[in-house]
Parts: sequence; structure tokens; C-alpha cells
Amino acid sequence: ALVTSKEMFRKAYEGNYAIGAFNVNNMEIIQGIVSAAQIEKAPLILQVSAGARKYANPIYLRKLVEAAIEETDLPIVLHLDHGENFEICKACVDDGFTSVMIDGSSLPFEENIALTKKVVDYAHERGVVVEAELGRLAGIEDAVNVSEKDATFTDPDQAVEFVERTGVDSLAIAIGTSHGAFKFKGEPRLDFERLEKITNMLPNFPIVLHGASSVPQEFVELTNKYGGKVPGAQGVPEEMLREAAKLGVCKINIDTDLRLALTASIRKTFTETPEAFDPRKYLGPGRQAIQDMVQHKIKNVLGCSNKI
Ligand code: G3H
Ligand code: 13P
Ligand code: ZN
Ligand code: NA
Repeated sequence: ALVTSKEMFRKAYEGNYAIGAFNVNNMEIIQGIVSAAQIEKAPLILQVSAGARKYANPIYLRKLVEAAIEETDLPIVLHLDHGENFEICKACVDDGFTSVMIDGSSLPFEENIALTKKVVDYAHERGVVVEAELGRLAGIEDAVNVSEKDATFTDPDQAVEFVERTGVDSLAIAIGTSHGAFKFKGEPRLDFERLEKITNMLPNFPIVLHGASSVPQEFVELTNKYGGKVPGAQGVPEEMLREAAKLGVCKINIDTDLRLALTASIRKTFTETPEAFDPRKYLGPGRQAIQDMVQHKIKNVLGCSNKI
């Protein structure tokens, strides 16, 4: 069934686990993720970015997600990832999404509040939940000193004020994760002290972690071995994600790991069977690679197996 994340997050918070929010762009990606969730009996968030809507066409993506909902008995949230303005959030609410993100994190505090509040008012009236973001996502290496860190990472006092004034349902925070495959130059580090402070000040309130791919080294090695070039790719260690999931983090965003799993698999097929040109011959194994990766994530990292 198509659901909002309200109940999912309540249970995840109490059960000290997190729900995986996976970015979807085409049929094989959706099928790989949904099969994994089905095998693991895991609640699921499928998220669509503006870029995904542009690539696949909003109608195709929505219909593919509808097919997944029809085919399984899983609770599935259809979520807009990084909505940058009111209009795209409105379009998705009107389109049947059950959750939207308004990302005003690049705006000054008061403007972020005003924009978020506007989206919350529109969405709540229509039974849709809203995620917002406060703080700027960047690697801890980018924050060279304490004052810079304070300027980019989420300020706990501001987080409380932001949630109170907007009425938002969940909040993405910045504690050192970043988008993409190159998250840390040196040792991976996240500001867990800050996360705990935020969690303590906002009890029972769901926190979202963006930029949370772990960039499994097996995919990096396979990609590089079969003609790709992603040297030095590094993600958030699984142990840190487990730790975050035990705290107030209820939603963990994963896109890069899907891209790497699919790409590594396709590169391998291309190299090993150069004579193959039937797309099913390489998209099929790619879809399986996504399924295996997501299953591992659900079972061993997020802790949301058998939680439906
Ligand atoms: O946060 C970004 C997600 O990975 C989506 O990426 O905008 O290229 O679809 P995208
Ligand atoms: P990754 O790039 O770490 O997969 O993060 C995805 C994300 O945050 C989507 O909003
Ligand atoms: Zn993100
Ligand atoms: Na949690």
C-alpha cells in the first residue's frame, strides 16, 4: 500500500532502526529495490529527484511505483527528494506523492522557515508529510575549524526552533555526510555528538541522514577493474550508519550505492561477454546486483527486516 512515513518513522524511532530511502530512476532500479524489500519484509521509501522526473518523465516513474505497490503487500512511501521550490513540491503533492522534501538548506534561516512552512501548510492539508533540511551537507574535511563546522553543520538550537515554527514532519541534518562517491579525503568522521544533542533536544522527532551511501569497496574495485575510473571513492562506514539508525535517525538516503552496484555489474558483463548486445543480458544482472546490495543494507545496516 502507498502510505506516508508517519507510522514507519514512529516505529523506527522506537525500535532503534532506520528505513532505507532509495532513489529511483528506471524500471530495473525500482524492481531491484522492491524485490529486496519484499524478501526482507521491510518498509520502504522510494524517492524521486527533480533530475529523475526529468529523465524518466513523471508519469512513467509514478506508474512504475504504482506497479510495485500493486505487486507487493509492502508499505511504500513515494517521496520527492530535494524539492527546491514550492512549485515542484505542490506538483508532487497533486501527483499522489505521500511525502515531499523541501530543501531550503541553502537559504538564510528565516527564508528556509518561510518556504518550508508554506510547503507544510499545502501538504498537510492534503494528508502529505514534509521533510526539510537545516545545515549544509559537506565533508568534515571541508570544515577545517570549529567555527566553520558550526556554520555548516546543523545547529541544535536552530533545529528546535525550525521544527517548532514550521511544523515539519522530519528534518535532514548536516553532521559530516555528503552526496556522491567521494565523501571523505581521510578517515571518515561524523559528528555524532551533534546528532545526539539534536535527538535529545527533539525527542521522538525523526531525523534524516542524506549522503549516506557506504560506497562498498567491492563495487569500486569492480568498476575500476572493468575499465571504470572511480579511484579513491569512499563512503560512510556501515558501522556509523548502524550507530545513526540506533539514534533518532529514521530515514537513511541511498543513491550512490545503487549507481555503483548497477555500473559495476554492467561493466563486468560488457567485459566478460563482449558479444552480448541484448539489454536484458546486462540490465538483468544489474538489477540483481541492486537487489543483493539493498537486501544486505536492509538486513545488516538499517535493521528494518521483518518490520512491516
Ligand atoms: O541527492 C541527490 C540524489 O543522489 C539525486 O541525484 O539529482 O542526480 O537525481 P540526482
Ligand atoms: P548518496 O549520494 O550518499 O547516495 O546520498 C543520496 C541522497 O542523499 C539523496 O538525497
Ligand atoms: Zn540528499
Ligand atoms: Na532510528
